Amino acid sequence: MLRTLVSAAALCGLALSASAETQLLTGGHVFDVERGVMLKDHDILVEDGRIKAVGRKGSLGASGAARIEMQGAYLLPGLSDSHVHLTSRADLHGYRRLAVSTPRSAISGVANAEKTLRAGFTTVRNLGGPGFADVDLKDAIDTGEIPGPRIIPAGHSIGITGGHCDNNLLPYEDKALGGGVADGPWAVRQKVRENKKYGAEVIKFCGTGGVLSKGTTIGAQQFTLEEMKAIVDEAHELGLKVAVHAHGAKGIQTALEAGVDSVEHASLISDDSLKLAVKQGTFLSMDIYVSDFILSEGEAAGILPESLEKEKTVGKAQRERFQAAVKAGAKIAYGTDAGVYTHGLNGRQFAYMVQWGMRPAEAIRAATLGNAELFGLKAEIGSLTAGKRADIIAVKGDPLTNIRELEDVDFVMKDGAVFHNGLAD
Ligand code: ARG
Repeated sequence: MLRTLVSAAALCGLALSASAETQLLTGGHVFDVERGVMLKDHDILVEDGRIKAVGRKGSLGASGAARIEMQGAYLLPGLSDSHVHLTSRADLHGYRRLAVSTPRSAISGVANAEKTLRAGFTTVRNLGGPGFADVDLKDAIDTGEIPGPRIIPAGHSIGITGGHCDNNLLPYEDKALGGGVADGPWAVRQKVRENKKYGAEVIKFCGTGGVLSKGTTIGAQQFTLEEMKAIVDEAHELGLKVAVHAHGAKGIQTALEAGVDSVEHASLISDDSLKLAVKQGTFLSMDIYVSDFILSEGEAAGILPESLEKEKTVGKAQRERFQAAVKAGAKIAYGTDAGVYTHGLNGRQFAYMVQWGMRPAEAIRAATLGNAELFGLKAEIGSLTAGKRADIIAVKGDPLTNIRELEDVDFVMKDGAVFHNGLAD
């Protein structure tokens, strides 16, 4: 890590504390997310970790600024992912996960956070993990101990006894229990409060069965409307947004009625629910890449046979419903479920979103301004606009003509600090 920082710093002539000075990123093409267009030959002036100004090449003055050469590169806002599990490893699924302690998962989280940032993802929502390790990971990144993206941690995912967010792998006498398991409106309110107490900044709950959990069915709703409403009410009262894991149509509809902020997966969303999501402005965070990993590498990684069977029915249907969601004009977040598959490959989903109905500019918008709105961070991140945090990435080719450019990001700056610069290579 240090090596990366030092070499990046050396390349750019920057001190390690790059964020505390004035820098001019010069001569690149700057993506205007709001208008969906690439501004040719522009400069970005960065001061104290924030964007000070964006303008035509040479128009910003900035004589005393450290210059970072961007000639011919394509600059975009730092990407974000609305659904990751940084403390999970893609090669440890099913019963293999039982051998992983919370401290061990936190160590994996350190490595995974670095890979995620290196991939150009400067902000992520961590939608669940054991023992509040994601809160600690966030803390270690924010204090500068380790490199990683800005994290919005969920702490424990809340779920019913025996549901997708419980641990159903062991017999009764082993008393295995997910940290967020609760039944009944008051019990779930208590779990929301507990999450908040230990540092969660978003609430995740499971509103249907899932693919990777043992003994659950995709179509079955989990929690009643009353319980879901209690979770949403309590979370909103505490200033936290709510993300629901939901594949089946009934659970999705009920969660929308309960007022969630985003539906994760949304695999079998009905036309009526799409209409409701559009009307309410609820985000759909549809992880339409991960199915390829599960079906090709899942078995070797320990994914249960029953989960592989479930995935066969869900994956394709989800992509078709994604296409319907785009057509219906629903708000689309960029959420991948990285952790189920390999961290650092978060950018692979872009090509799928384009294949299934989005224009490249729309897919990029989902991963920048769209997610920023969902996270409640529109004033801070999501576009290359004066006043926002200097989270800036660059690629050598034009992502509007080849979206797959975003699978291999060449330059990463977060809060004005250059984390990686391979543009000169
Ligand atoms: N974590 C999710 C679950 O277990 C993964 C679903 C992946 N499949 C998909 N088609 N998106 O339900």
